[in-house]
Amino acid sequence: MAHELSDDSESTKLIDYIEETVSDEEESETISLPDQGAFFKMPKRFGTIPDVSETPLGWGKGGYAHLYPYVKLPMQRLETISFGNNNGEPNKLYWGDNLHVMRALPSESIDLIYIDPPFFSGKKYNMIFQDRNEVITFEDIWEGGLPTYLVWLNARLVEMKRLLKPTGYIFVHLDWHAVHYVKTEMDKIFGYKNFVNEIIWHYFMGGKSKDRFARKHDNILVYIKSGKPKLKVEEHDRILIKKPSLGSHKDIKPILCKTCNGESGIYLSKVLMDDVWDIPGVFNMSDEYLGYHTQKSEALLERIIKASSNEGDVVADFFCGGGTTPAVAQKLGRRWIACDISRIAIEVTKGRILRLLKSEKGTQFSLSEVPNMEVWSWGFYDAEKLQDATDEEFKEFIVRAYGGRPITSRYVNGSKNGIPILVGDKDPKKPITKKEVLEFAKYIQENYQLNKTGTILAWGFSDSAIKAREALANTGSEIDFVKIKTVRIGTYEFMEDVITKNKDYKKIFRFVLPPEVVLHISKENGEFVFDFSDSTSLNNGKIINIQADFDFDGKFTPSEGYIFNPNTMILRYRFKTVGKKRIAFKIEDDQGGEKLIVKEVE
Ligand SMILES: C[S@@+](CC[C@H](N)C(=O)[O-])C[C@H]1O[C@@H](n2cnc3c(N)ncnc32)[C@H](O)[C@@H]1O
Repeated sequence: MAHELSDDSESTKLIDYIEETVSDEEESETISLPDQGAFFKMPKRFGTIPDVSETPLGWGKGGYAHLYPYVKLPMQRLETISFGNNNGEPNKLYWGDNLHVMRALPSESIDLIYIDPPFFSGKKYNMIFQDRNEVITFEDIWEGGLPTYLVWLNARLVEMKRLLKPTGYIFVHLDWHAVHYVKTEMDKIFGYKNFVNEIIWHYFMGGKSKDRFARKHDNILVYIKSGKPKLKVEEHDRILIKKPSLGSHKDIKPILCKTCNGESGIYLSKVLMDDVWDIPGVFNMSDEYLGYHTQKSEALLERIIKASSNEGDVVADFFCGGGTTPAVAQKLGRRWIACDISRIAIEVTKGRILRLLKSEKGTQFSLSEVPNMEVWSWGFYDAEKLQDATDEEFKEFIVRAYGGRPITSRYVNGSKNGIPILVGDKDPKKPITKKEVLEFAKYIQENYQLNKTGTILAWGFSDSAIKAREALANTGSEIDFVKIKTVRIGTYEFMEDVITKNKDYKKIFRFVLPPEVVLHISKENGEFVFDFSDSTSLNNGKIINIQADFDFDGKFTPSEGYIFNPNTMILRYRFKTVGKKRIAFKIEDDQGGEKLIVKEVE
């Protein structure tokens, strides 16, 4: 039975400022490396042999802040989807670089982290969604080969350790390309003694080689943050090709052979699960298949989540891709946090969760018990959605993104390095006027004795406002002189301060606009054809994904097969019944721009 999803909740603020829980200075104190046991004490006589007890690659004073500086940027709430339970802590989906998102989350707040990061198996293979943020990340990781990859991952593993509760587990999914290197790094970060398991996930899809044994397993490294592990190891059925004489087998039952009227010589027994898991991967005939190669199987995640968490626990995946972890966590009644740098991944994950909650599988828990789902972004800001904020929220957000300190006053909205800031209207169609420039200048003249300067941040400035600013700067008299800097929101100049701290921030700090959507609808042999070919990205990019909801009820839930349609500008659909239909599309570009459009067809 499908449930009705209720309306959006207005219970939380549109914009929030999650300050980093740890400052630069504090970080070195709060994040410490474990003491390694005697096993790693390298005899002095061996001299300079690399010592595995050394710090992880890239570790410096204050952890990884010297390589990836802390930056204070606000979070933008893109959406809240409510299912009826507005009281519980919402599940959270973050769009942004996970390092910065994690730095904004509180310590010791997560019970289980599963990650499936890029495997260091070649740039092309790892790229799934092909959006600009993902492309840039992969270029960065591969630039310096394995050492860069390890430093990049270590910085994130250190944050994950901080986020885990003392009894929390982390599962890191890798394969032969880098698992042995990552294992040594994890020993240094989590402690050799906190290693729990290396799970071999064995699958059988894909080609086989005659020249070497086919590589048919991934490796999942499991660590506990501290204390003794207590995984819930279940029994499972094992098929034995002959009757075992001894061992750990229980309840041995012969498998009966129907055609030969007797025993088949094959037995079924119950055994405690070991660290080699035979679970089929996702292939194109699977129900859960979304259409990309790195998608992990729900059965795998189910086993991990059941073994290492309880109902109500917080499960996190900071490389969530198409959302396998949050989908399974949702089904199993866990709370979840998911993050991805690709906007497409975020939209695919959101669509998947909504589909799940409308389906049979999602109804194990009454929808009224399901907490809200919130979508947040850090560093990438949806310029159009900022208009949903109140005036005060918008101004505060812009001041913070500019690196300033908000001030609530009639005349100024903030200050940076002692210089007052005025923020223009949230509506991009309302540029700063001459009157506003003159009023701001008057305020500065009356309130500032020595440094008569100010900054106006706005989407645009009218010609007369610019002329007024120039006239003020050219006034002969020292007393009247007011220097006003006009900065357009979202330009390089706006973000310069943050970017100069670290060149990487140029890639993770951006305002994006929704695409301009042009839709031609036609009919061919009873099938609707939705042609988006004339649509364009307004962020100098291209449209790379179109999702469709052919039964739109006010809450966008992609129809089956229409969650992930990479590089398809034409969608086709045959309705099962005749009559008026309300339909909706979400169009996403490769720069993070996204737009929802609603139509009626008959
Ligand atoms: C291998 S995929 C995960 C697939 C996922 N387990 C699933 O079943 O769909 C890795 C994901 O990591 C994301 N990613 C890479 N670098 C990231 C970063 N710095 N922050 C957040 N996500 C990142 C990529 O966009 C990609 O979606």
